[in-house]
Amino acid sequence: MIEELINLDDFERAAAAKLDAGVLGYFAGGAGDEATLRDNVAAWGRWQLRPRMLAGNPTWSTRGELLGGELSMPILVAPVAFQRMVDPEGEVAMARAASAAGTAMCLSTLATSLPAEVAEAAPAGRHLFQLYCFSDAGVTRALMDQAVASGFEAILVTVDAPRAGNRERDLRTGFVLPEGLGIPSVSAALGAERAVTVPEAFELIDPCLGWADLEALASDCGLPILVKGIHTAEDAALAIEHGAAGIVVSNHGGRQLDRVAATADVLEEAVEAVAGRGTVLVDGGIRRGADVAIALALGADAVLVGRPALWGLAVDGERGAQRVLEILRAELELTLLLCGCASPGALTRAHVQRAPAATVYSG
Ligand SMILES: Cc1cc2nc3c(=O)[nH]c(=O)nc-3n(C[C@H](O)[C@H](O)[C@H](O)COP(=O)(O)O)c2cc1C
Repeated sequence: MIEELINLDDFERAAAAKLDAGVLGYFAGGAGDEATLRDNVAAWGRWQLRPRMLAGNPTWSTRGELLGGELSMPILVAPVAFQRMVDPEGEVAMARAASAAGTAMCLSTLATSLPAEVAEAAPAGRHLFQLYCFSDAGVTRALMDQAVASGFEAILVTVDAPRAGNRERDLRTGFVLPEGLGIPSVSAALGAERAVTVPEAFELIDPCLGWADLEALASDCGLPILVKGIHTAEDAALAIEHGAAGIVVSNHGGRQLDRVAATADVLEEAVEAVAGRGTVLVDGGIRRGADVAIALALGADAVLVGRPALWGLAVDGERGAQRVLEILRAELELTLLLCGCASPGALTRAHVQRAPAATVYSG
């Protein structure tokens, strides 16, 4: 019974019990020793909240503005590939869930649904598109054009995956993408529909991309570009200087380069480098409303969740994903109230502090 699942970890356990070992390993796993995968979750627990009392707020809400539009909460659905592996409607069901929860979904380049299908399924929803720049520039251009034509609002260009990370769970289970899954971007790049492995799909991505390419993309894309996969202050500043409207502080959920810092530990330096010149999003290991509040207090404009929404989809399709988003929204709302904040924007750096060294609240 979905009603018995009361937090995001419950959904993870329920999804793990349901999915086949290869599919579970693909979605749950990370790169190498999975040190960054684990630390992404643990690192939010190395921050503590500093709530303020007697704030006298007559109302409070998680609502806010992002990229020129309203959202019910500063929590978006991250781009996650191949969603029809866990639900027959895949990204279409995820888009409906995000829309019903009042927030935006980011569709992956490696989606098993087209931008037009997502837009049609959730016409009232807000959609972003995640772009991998393929070596075939014509395919990349066509992907962007489809997103623009389908009313998507921004492009998240993922730059941390010139090749797939070393995902040992997939090697151990012998995971291959099911035949007939249908990945339109991959078929377009290959010029034919045929089964591919995950590393083969990543080999379609241009590994030689540089800042000049990013600048060219930003100037002729027609939509705001956010650079996804930023780990350092240096690259955060370069992204803005090369025309990006913002960044996503992300290590791809620990799936690309293992042994990089958790996003909770690098967010602050990235925020300082952007210095108000663009939007700052962050993802990786967000599992509680308190994690969201900490990210906002450290200067993020919003967060994205990857695996948790996917677990919701795997457990109960659109309804499950919507419930995951609503649980997180309710947790954030309570956290705001108990911190004395009337809105997400009221959280400031003064609402968080580093926890004493031995303290770990999660992970
Ligand atoms: C199974 C899986 C597939 C992913 N596919 C993509 C993708 O196609 N493009 C992309 O930019 N990020 C992809 N990501 C990374 C997510 O967008 C996001 O950065 C990450 O999941 C955040 O960490 P979390 O899962 O702990 O929330 C994927 C993540 C997972 C778990």
